Amino acid sequence: MRNLNVALIVILFVYVLTGCSNKSKLDDASEYDDKVATLMKKMTLREKIGQMNQYSSFMNATGPVSKDDYTKKKYDHLKEGLVGSMLNVRGVDQVLRFQKIAVEETRLGIPLIFGFDVIHGYRTQSPIPLAEAASWDLEAIKKSAQVAATEAAAAGINWTFAPMVDIARDARWGRIMEGAGEDTYLGSLIAKARIEGFQGDDLSATNTIAACAKHFAAYGFAEAGRDYNTVDIGASTLYNIVLPPFKSAVDVGVCTFMNSFNVLNGVPATGNAFLQRDILKGKWGFKGYVVSDWESIKEMLAHGFVQDKQTAAIAALQAGCDMDMEAQIYIDKLEDLVKAGKVDEALIDDAVKRILTLKYELGLFDNPYKYCDANREKELIGAKVHHNAVLDMAKKSIVLLKNENNLLPLKKKGLKIALIGDLADDKYSPLGSWRLASDDEEAVSVVEGLKVYDNTVKFAQGVRLMDEEPEFFKETKINLTDRSGIAKAKNIAKKSDVVLMVLGEPGFLTGEGRSRTSLNLPGLQEELLKEVYGVNKNIVLILMNGRPLTIPWAAENVPAILETWHLGSQSGNAIAQVLYGDYNPSGKLPISFPRSVGQVPIYYNHYSTGRPTSPGNDVVFWSHYIDESNKPLYPFGYGLSYTTFEYKDFKVTNTYDTDKKVNVTVTITNTGELKGKEVAQLYIRDLAGSVVRPVKELKGFEMIELNPGESKTISFLLTDKELGFYDNDYNYVVEPGEFNVWVGGSSDAKLMKSFKIK
Ligand code: NOJ
Repeated sequence: MRNLNVALIVILFVYVLTGCSNKSKLDDASEYDDKVATLMKKMTLREKIGQMNQYSSFMNATGPVSKDDYTKKKYDHLKEGLVGSMLNVRGVDQVLRFQKIAVEETRLGIPLIFGFDVIHGYRTQSPIPLAEAASWDLEAIKKSAQVAATEAAAAGINWTFAPMVDIARDARWGRIMEGAGEDTYLGSLIAKARIEGFQGDDLSATNTIAACAKHFAAYGFAEAGRDYNTVDIGASTLYNIVLPPFKSAVDVGVCTFMNSFNVLNGVPATGNAFLQRDILKGKWGFKGYVVSDWESIKEMLAHGFVQDKQTAAIAALQAGCDMDMEAQIYIDKLEDLVKAGKVDEALIDDAVKRILTLKYELGLFDNPYKYCDANREKELIGAKVHHNAVLDMAKKSIVLLKNENNLLPLKKKGLKIALIGDLADDKYSPLGSWRLASDDEEAVSVVEGLKVYDNTVKFAQGVRLMDEEPEFFKETKINLTDRSGIAKAKNIAKKSDVVLMVLGEPGFLTGEGRSRTSLNLPGLQEELLKEVYGVNKNIVLILMNGRPLTIPWAAENVPAILETWHLGSQSGNAIAQVLYGDYNPSGKLPISFPRSVGQVPIYYNHYSTGRPTSPGNDVVFWSHYIDESNKPLYPFGYGLSYTTFEYKDFKVTNTYDTDKKVNVTVTITNTGELKGKEVAQLYIRDLAGSVVRPVKELKGFEMIELNPGESKTISFLLTDKELGFYDNDYNYVVEPGEFNVWVGGSSDAKLMKSFKIK
C-alpha cells in the first residue's frame, strides 16, 4: 500500500543530520585550530593558495627530470612555498628530497603531504578491491588496508587516494575492479573497514596514512560503462545507492574526499556545490578537505561547463573543491580573482585550514621527516608478515561458482594434471590494475603455486593472450590470430586426469580507461576452452579477471569453475591451496555475473517494473528480453563451498510497534563432510513505498564457520536503520506497511517470511 499519510511517516531527517555518529577524526582538530590560525596569519594570499596546489612528481632522485617550462615552473613553485602536496613521489629517498625543499628552503617551511594511489597494497599486492569484497570478511579487508598503509607509510607516503567507494552496476566499466561491487550496504561496510585499516586509531603513527573516499560522486554510473562518460541518475539512486558508502566514510572519520571526472545530471562533480557544499560539508558536516581528480578542474572546460580557467577556478572553489590536482588553475588564477573581488578569500581560508589541519594531524609539523626512515623502509616493504596477510586475503576472496560431482578439491596424490592457459604462467597479470609501486613480475603464478603439491603437472600455454607486453598507460593488445599452441594443449589434456584451465583478463585489461563492450573471455580463450573440452571434459576453469565475465557456455558445460579475480602477490599460492582444499572456499560474489553483455547494467536490487512477470502464452508485453533471460548467470551474494549448508527454523519476531525492532533468527547446519564457512545473508523488501523499493535489499550478513554436522543459530536485528530509505528530497523515512524478509546463501535466497510495521 502506498501510504502518504505524513503523520505516519517517520521522518528521520534529524537522524540524518545529527543522529548518525558523525565522528570525524578531524572533529578533534580544535587542538590544532590555534596553531593553524597562527600559521595562516603569517601566510600571504599566494602562499595560502599554494597549499591548495598539488603537483605530480617531476624529479628523479637526483634532480628535475627535464628543463621544460612546465617542470621548471613546478620546481620554482616548490621552492617558493607554493605547493601544498605532491603525488606520485614515493620511496624515502625521493620523498626526503622534496620534503627538504619544502621545509628547509621555503619562507615558512610548511611540510608537503605526499599522496599516492595505494589501491590494493603498496609493494606487496593484495587482491584487487573487487576481489577483497568477495570475501565479505570485514576484518580481513581492514587488515589488508593496514598492511598497505604500513608499507606506504614506510615509503614516505602520508595519504592514499583510496578507498574508491563508487557503487557500480556495469561490468563494462574497467574501474569496477577498484570498488566493492554493486551493493550499497556491503559497500558502506567495506568503505568503513578500509578507512579504519588505512587510518588506524592514530593518524600520527608511522604506520597509518590518511584515506580518501572517491570519486564524489556517481562516477561508477558512467553511461554505457564508458569511463569518464556522462552520468544521469535520479534522486532515488543518488540518495539510496550512490551516497551511503560516502556517508559511511564520513562517519568513520575519513580525512579527505576526491571529487570526480563525470558530470552528474549536467553539472561536473568538481564544480558541483550541491554535492560538495550542501551535502558533504553541509548536511554531513565533513571537516576534511576535498581534492579534485587529476586536472578535473580544467576538464570542466571540455565538459562545456565553463569557458575559461578563471571561471573554472571560481566554480570549483565555490563548489567546495579545496585542492587542485595537477591542473595549475588555482595557483595561476585564484590570487587575481581574489584581488578583483571575484572570489571571497574566506573560501580560500577555509580550504587552507582544512589542509593544514590534516598536516598537523599526521604529525608532519612535529617532524616532517618522520615517514622517511630508510631502515624502516627496508625492513617493512615486502615483509614476510605482509605476504602472509595478503595470502590470507587472497584465499578468502576466491569464489567457487560450480563444482559438479565434487571435482574439487583435487586429490593430493596420484593425479596427472594438465595446466593450460597463458595466465597460468603469468607473474604480472595476477597483480591486477592500479599497482603503481609493485614489481612487475612479483606475483606467484599458478604454475609456481602448484609446485608445492606432489601431483605431476604438465603446462601448455594454449593460446598467447597478448600481442605486446602490457603497460599501465597503454591499451592492452589481445592476440586474435595465433592459434599455434592449441594442438599441444589438447595433447597434454588428452593424457591427463584433470585439466586446470586458467583463463581470463590480463591485469591491465581492467582499471581506469579500460572499458569493454564485450564481457567475453578475451581473444581466443573460449575457442581454446572448447577445443580442450573436446578431448577432456574434466575441466576446472580458473577465472582470473577484474570484472564479471559472460561465460554461459562454460557455466553450462565445464564441471568446475573458480572465480579467482586478480589476487595480487600471493595469487598462485592462494589458488593452489583452494584447489587442493587446504582452504575451503568461502567467497560470495559482490556483483552479479550477466549471461550476456546486453543485460548490463544488471543488479539484484532493481525495481519491480509494472510488468515484472510473463502473462503466459508467449505474450510479449512484459519487461523482458525476447532472446535472453532476465536473470544473471550467477547472482549477487552467490558462492559455493566444498561442503553444503542448510537453513532452517527461520523465525521473525516482530515487536516493531512497541520497541521498533524486528528480530530474525535462522539455524544453519553444515550438511556436508568438510568444515566450512558460510556467509548467511538477510534481504528485505518493503512492498510499497512513496518511492518504489527494490525487489530485494541486503540488510545484514554474518559469516559463520561450522564443522560437519554442526549447527548454529544466528540472529539479525531490523530497526529503522534497515527498514527505511531516502525519499526524493533526501529525507530518511520509514513507512508503515508490509515487508518480506529472506535469509540464505545468496540474493536468490528462497526462505521468506512477511511482517508488518505500523
Ligand atoms: C585519476 C583517478 O581517477 C584517481 O582515482 C586517481 O587517484 C588519480 N588519477 C591520481 O592518480
